[in-house]
Amino acid sequence: MEDKLRSLQQEAIEKVNEAQDLKELNNIRVAYLGKKGPVTEALKGMGKLSAEERPKMGALANEVRGAITETIEAKQAVLEKEAVEKKLQSETIDVTLPGRPVKKGNHHPLTMIVEEIEDLFIGMGYTVAEGPEVEKDYYNFEALNLPKGHPARDMQDSFYITEETLLRTHTSPVQARTMELAKGKGPIKIICPGKVYRRDTDDATHSHQFTQIEGLVIDENIRMSDLKGTLNVFAKKMFGEDREIRLRPSFFPFTEPSVEMDISCKICGGKGCRVCKGTGWIEILGAGMVHPNVLEMAGFDSKKYTGFAFGMGPERIAMLKYGIDDIRHFYTNDTRFVTQFGTEE
Ligand code: PHE
Repeated sequence: MEDKLRSLQQEAIEKVNEAQDLKELNNIRVAYLGKKGPVTEALKGMGKLSAEERPKMGALANEVRGAITETIEAKQAVLEKEAVEKKLQSETIDVTLPGRPVKKGNHHPLTMIVEEIEDLFIGMGYTVAEGPEVEKDYYNFEALNLPKGHPARDMQDSFYITEETLLRTHTSPVQARTMELAKGKGPIKIICPGKVYRRDTDDATHSHQFTQIEGLVIDENIRMSDLKGTLNVFAKKMFGEDREIRLRPSFFPFTEPSVEMDISCKICGGKGCRVCKGTGWIEILGAGMVHPNVLEMAGFDSKKYTGFAFGMGPERIAMLKYGIDDIRHFYTNDTRFVTQFGTEE
């Protein structure tokens, strides 16, 4: 039995020394020291030994076990170190490689246009004013010279919440509110961007919710020529120095006289094409001199003060500027669309 144990020890140690990796080493451990391994098997024969021999063999068996375990542990340390080194070598980092670019977000094209327009007017001395989207019928219509039952209310199909409240159909109520707050004292020079709502069926050029920017100037001696000059600067800064503007007579209940502004078509240079529907001109905004009734209702003396107002849709302006063919692109948040318009900062 002694010989058997000794030869097992030698055999196991040899195998351990030859082991190539941790898995193989573990297999050897299980094979020699496991419950069904040869060392345990050999010890089963102890019963046949004399009382004298038994403790000796027991001690020897423990010694063999200990020797094998020790060799295994030593080998394990070596193999583990090797494995770590191998891993380190295979994972060396090339610090000279260029980094992966971090994706930067960009502003929504509509935000970009609104901010561009705001900046332009801020540069001309305007301040930005805002008002509520859930608006009183009074500010949305009545204070703008559109009393209840006025046929021109039909120009703007509205979402009413109660008889007296609605989702504002334009940004013009901010005019009425700002004038009221000024308590009859000019000057006022504001630009008001914001969301507006109309009962429209959504299609390529209509949306039940869209954006407007309103401008209002009130002071002594404000004339139509001031409006024209301001709109001319705006059109050239926004669409290019080579663009012409023209004012066409129009109607809005809150301005008198009222106009619509067109800019010359960039695509055909004024000759007429599909984009300008053959006219050479593209409609951009509505404007006019503030109606005396609107001034008086807000507490301004219309003999002393005059003013002009204009209102435009940034979606339409962005569509013309960037050649966008469907207004719905602005609201569906398809990143392939919204990331096309340049990254800011
Ligand atoms: N509020 C008008 C509209 O929504 C636009 C406008 C504003 C016209 C100011 C004239 C003056 O149609």
